[in-house]
Amino acid sequence: MASSRFFFFSSLLLLASFLSLFLLSHGAISSFPNLTSLSFEEGYTQLFGDSNLMLHRDGRGVHLSLDERTGAGFASQDLYLHGFFSAAIKLPSDYAAGVVVAFYMSNGDVFERTHDELDFEFLGNIRGKEWRVQTNIYGNGSTAIGREERYGLWFDPTEDFHKYSILWSHDRIIFYIDNVPIREVARTEVLGGQFPSKPMSLYATIWDGSNWATSGGRYKINYKYAPYIAEFADLILDGCAVDPMDHTPTCNGLVADLYDTITISTDQRLAMERFRKKHMTYSYCYDRIRYSTPLPECSAGPEARQFQESGEVVRFGDRRRRGKRHHHAPTNSAI
Ligand SMILES: *[C@@H]1O[C@H](CO)[C@@H](O)[C@H](O)[C@H]1NC(C)=O
Ligand SMILES: *[C@@H]1O[C@H](CO)[C@@H](O)[C@H](O)[C@H]1NC(C)=O
Repeated sequence: MASSRFFFFSSLLLLASFLSLFLLSHGAISSFPNLTSLSFEEGYTQLFGDSNLMLHRDGRGVHLSLDERTGAGFASQDLYLHGFFSAAIKLPSDYAAGVVVAFYMSNGDVFERTHDELDFEFLGNIRGKEWRVQTNIYGNGSTAIGREERYGLWFDPTEDFHKYSILWSHDRIIFYIDNVPIREVARTEVLGGQFPSKPMSLYATIWDGSNWATSGGRYKINYKYAPYIAEFADLILDGCAVDPMDHTPTCNGLVADLYDTITISTDQRLAMERFRKKHMTYSYCYDRIRYSTPLPECSAGPEARQFQESGEVVRFGDRRRRGKRHHHAPTNSAI
């Protein structure tokens, strides 16, 4: 029994690595002509956490740590209108309940009431339980409406670096994990102004999310296990930077249009559907406690069709899970 399970598991692993190789060589991301990897000094700036942000010797990677005193965070120096944003991240191991690591884009400090946001959030767990990943989007100040999805992972994110990426173009947003698309949000009529459309900066933070991150706040951070260290490498900012004053794009039109040519290939779409069937544990689209009437994009438009065709509706239709609202780390309280 155990050995057949082992065999099954290893074949699965083999298949998965074959698949990711295939995706790497055939996937749309690799056809990007120019993925710009800037050194930390060139592309980023520390937001908070003083010595809890530590630069790697190569000047490209960064450690962010969280202890009783403070978390830590950094942001891109520029604002970008569309692009491809990516980082290889290794999460804190061992007991990490209450710890939140976030890799996200936002313009909350520029547009206070009409801000846009695209999130990867990693939620720590008690020992022996896996980290969970959450994605979310806000557009034009839609903070009263959460569009969270949650997933488990097919690997242990504390053991090694894995790549988390966001493609944001005029027409669509795609979240990727290790080059596998896991979520697509298209600009549709029903989404309207809630599709993020103003320049954003890229952020990475680690902070104390004791009040919501793990089982809705049941398990808090235990600082006995501090410091919690998240490592970031292969930071990619391949975006259309905008002028800081008037926000006009400084990249040429060809580059801007390039992001719109990135779509999900048939193979990638199959991989995405498999991922979502197997690993998605929560979607706002199926949360009838929170949204007794599903948001329009859940029942109309390409997303809805995609959900129905992939069988997600069947899986989640009767679940009674409640998503948690939250806010990002107060970036000024810890400076
Ligand atoms: C790639 O990026 C580098 C650095 O930003 C730039 O100098 C170069 O011209 C770019 N190449 C292409 C083909 O866009
Ligand atoms: C964004 O919100 C503002 C304020 O509510 C509104 O005036 C504007 O039309 C909205 N923009 C879009 C694109 O919907």
